[in-house]
Amino acid sequence: MKIALGADHAGFVDKDRIARMLRDSGHEIMDYGTHDATPVDYPQYGYAVGEAVASGQAERGIVVCGSSLGIAMAANKVPGVRCAPVAEPLSAELARRHNDANVLAVSERLTGWEMLERLVQVFLATPFDGGRHAHRVEQLFEFGDAQRSRTLRDIERGTVSGAETPKEML
Ligand code: RB5
Repeated sequence: MKIALGADHAGFVDKDRIARMLRDSGHEIMDYGTHDATPVDYPQYGYAVGEAVASGQAERGIVVCGSSLGIAMAANKVPGVRCAPVAEPLSAELARRHNDANVLAVSERLTGWEMLERLVQVFLATPFDGGRHAHRVEQLFEFGDAQRSRTLRDIERGTVSGAETPKEML
């Protein structure tokens, strides 16, 4: 699989370990840096990995920063990206099965290497379940003007309307 990697100065050590591990198991790695401990701004690395995945140059992306949070927020700004910050394997599995996550965000400062290794393996090996999850995932990319008006109307009314899953999709 073609996998894009990116990290800031608080994540590059684990990013490099992930790169080695994935190359050893036959994956093709696109490494957008950073490559040393010089402080850098995590959004730039989240955007680069996000664009590589959204444009189809990479099939999946993995981003690492101190907490996993900032770089995940950045990756999720790129249209087409579904980035999940994850710290335990069940969330990594559900991010794939239910949300079709195409970018994984992990934390170098809060997550030990053995757990991190497992998160990456689960993220890469787990398929998307599709079915009832598919149209929900599609809605994640419908947050344009029409969706905003609908949501603002819901807020005015004080309740969310029309959110039922169609019967044929259950
Ligand atoms: C860098 O100090 C740290 O803020 C960054 O790696 C990340 O944790 C931000 O969300």
